[in-house]
Amino acid sequence: MTAIIESPSSSSDTVDTYGYSPQYPDTPFTEFDAVNPSMDLESLNLNWRERDLPERIRTKHVHRLHPYLGKFVPQLVEIFLRKFEPSTVCDPFCGSGTTLVEAATLGVNAIGCDISEFNTLMTRVKANQYDLELLEFEVQDALNRVLSSPTLALRERKEALYSGYLTSWFAPSALDSLLAYRSSIDDYKYSDVLKVILSRAARSARRTTHFDLDFPKRPQTESYQCYKHSRICKPTEDAAQFIKRYSNDTLRRIREFAAIRKNVALSIITDDARTVQFPRHDLVITSPPYVGLIDYHEQHKYAYELLGLQWKANKEIGPAARGLSLRARTEYVDNIVESFKNVKASLSRNGRMVVIVNDKLGLYDEIRERVGLRLEGRLERHVNRRTGRRAGNFFESVFIWARED
Ligand SMILES: C[S@@+](CC[C@H](N)C(=O)[O-])C[C@H]1O[C@@H](n2cnc3c(N)ncnc32)[C@H](O)[C@@H]1O
Repeated sequence: MTAIIESPSSSSDTVDTYGYSPQYPDTPFTEFDAVNPSMDLESLNLNWRERDLPERIRTKHVHRLHPYLGKFVPQLVEIFLRKFEPSTVCDPFCGSGTTLVEAATLGVNAIGCDISEFNTLMTRVKANQYDLELLEFEVQDALNRVLSSPTLALRERKEALYSGYLTSWFAPSALDSLLAYRSSIDDYKYSDVLKVILSRAARSARRTTHFDLDFPKRPQTESYQCYKHSRICKPTEDAAQFIKRYSNDTLRRIREFAAIRKNVALSIITDDARTVQFPRHDLVITSPPYVGLIDYHEQHKYAYELLGLQWKANKEIGPAARGLSLRARTEYVDNIVESFKNVKASLSRNGRMVVIVNDKLGLYDEIRERVGLRLEGRLERHVNRRTGRRAGNFFESVFIWARED
């Protein structure tokens, strides 16, 4: 992998480096459709800067159907699918479904598993095939209903009052629109798509500041100095505008993906990667949760509350809430080993696992050895642009492991 010639200052690990774009001696590789099984991937420069791989390409079609913190870059998945040409790829920690969407684009069957019910809902909605005419009718009809009568039946209002979360995180008029929309969802065949539109609208309509949408700590009810827009902003009181905006955006993105999606078999499972029985596959591409980094249920709490989804945060591996203590790390390694051994049990004999992770604690050599896989390759990549206001500059490893038995 190509060296970085202008390395960031040491303090940039802890400050917001949003927009930082270092220089490299040569141009990063972007000819994704030229990747073939004989290509030597370790010689490729995958240190994409914003101008090499702009956000609109990384978030093309359904990849931006709903925000999700912790996604990997779809083009990275594409490279490994083209290199190894599997017939079925498995992602045991499928998150927002990046692997499955890329597999469906390239005609590869795919299996995705995640412990979070909201994440598998997102994955299904992104990767599925639709009767586009019916989908368009249903999305428009549900939207028209909420725009024409945004007030609620008394029963729904009462239910909302039982949820302290909903009444504190949404202004009354916003909550009315969200609940009115929710009450119509089950009338439609493509109710899952409507659930994702509802959830995305709810995320935008929360009483939060514009600069802290990922993990807002408490409802923002007053005007505030907004760092994102450099002016005084006010929390929104309206959700209908977001339902409308995301209805149109969702239809456009699904239509765009439908034009390139191949006819493939998908299996999307909400379960624990440590214990679920995976269908047979011949390649794994995954980015596992890392220790002490992200609480995956918590980041979509609004969706769990509104849609009544099952909350299984206690089954998450390496949650941020449990921290980075020695005990947390030891548990993490045991849990990832258990998951990968379980995935390996359904991996074909000549199969490989491609694991993409920022292994800043150096845990993955031990994990690979305990799972019983051979190190076939390792790529390092500088991740130099991020979405959102997070401490930005970091490196990501891509491990290529092969079965040795
Ligand atoms: C780094 S994210 C994967 C992101 C994905 N590559 C994408 O592009 O959207 C890791 C995922 O592992 C899931 N996860 C955590 N513990 C799990 C478990 N015990 N079984 C299955 N999935 C789990 C989390 O919910 C999260 O979605």
